Amino acid sequence: MDLEHLQTEIETDLNSVVSLAALEEVRIKYLGRKGLVAELTSSIPQVAPETRGIFGQKVNALKNKIFSLIGEKEKFLQAQENIEKQNDLDIGLPGIALELGGIHPITQTINEICRIFQNMGFSVVEGPEVETEYNNFTGLNIPLEHPSRDAFDTFYLKKYEKLLLRSHTSPVQVRTMQAHTPPLAIIVPGRVYRPDAVDASHLFMFHQIEGFLVGKNIKFSDLKGSLEIFAKNIFGPKIKMRFRPHFFPFTEPSVEVDISCIICQGQGCSVCGRKGWLEILGAGLIHPNVFKHVGYPSGKYSGFAFGMGIERIAMLKYGINDIRLFFENDLRFLKQF
Ligand code: DAH
Repeated sequence: MDLEHLQTEIETDLNSVVSLAALEEVRIKYLGRKGLVAELTSSIPQVAPETRGIFGQKVNALKNKIFSLIGEKEKFLQAQENIEKQNDLDIGLPGIALELGGIHPITQTINEICRIFQNMGFSVVEGPEVETEYNNFTGLNIPLEHPSRDAFDTFYLKKYEKLLLRSHTSPVQVRTMQAHTPPLAIIVPGRVYRPDAVDASHLFMFHQIEGFLVGKNIKFSDLKGSLEIFAKNIFGPKIKMRFRPHFFPFTEPSVEVDISCIICQGQGCSVCGRKGWLEILGAGLIHPNVFKHVGYPSGKYSGFAFGMGIERIAMLKYGINDIRLFFENDLRFLKQF
């Protein structure tokens, strides 16, 4: 076999190789166990003794040459493959956006209500969800025999007789007035708890916002004006309000406040029970007994207070018909806000 010819043959072979797989075939053809180099090596003993040594050296040199040619080609193909891989990166493709969280509709409603009252000069204060029986009831002039004080209406903490989960945000009135003297203009958002059976309009945990303003010579008209600004800001300038006499132990006089139905604008529909009005909160002038319980001098101050359920406001505002939706964490619901 002509060694020179063999070298040109391998060079031609390598020139036409364009992939690592094809290169492997060339390697087998020349360097494999039954390849051309092996064939040459096994033919050495047949060569005439005078030229055998030279021939052996040439075969060896050719073998090394083929080794290095294949090695070079392999490096070249590998580099090319890497470049192709990089070209798979299409920087023109749209990116994969991170999923962003949102603000829960209840938190949004709380923020909105707080903002409206803050614009009127109220400050936001929070209180603990575990309360004393005194702050939740006695301090608010809720007498012993009042039904809401019954263990059935409030979660009592069994081990600690006088502690309970607050059933409204009103105890923060007591806490704040005990710690501060008027003038006070306070708004209190927070969770409250009641052992109610769960249905489309009841949960055992929900949110309220309490508001109260205490000073000298505060009148019922101050309450009306503040609530009117609130209602127009949250439900729109066309909303009408109605104050109905009611009873709360901690206010005198007490009222329930309705807004004209935001669905039917007062015409009467299924949401307002054909009445044209929707109840949104309780309010009144703070009862003198509450001032007495917090240690304010008799007759010195007057004030108003109100309390409303946040879920109810959010349901009316967004047209939601089931309170449970707020706490099921279904993204199809939450993503709409
Ligand atoms: N605490 C009452 C409730 O949970 C709501 C309420 C009514 C709060 C009248 C007040 C108020 O401050 O004056 O039903």
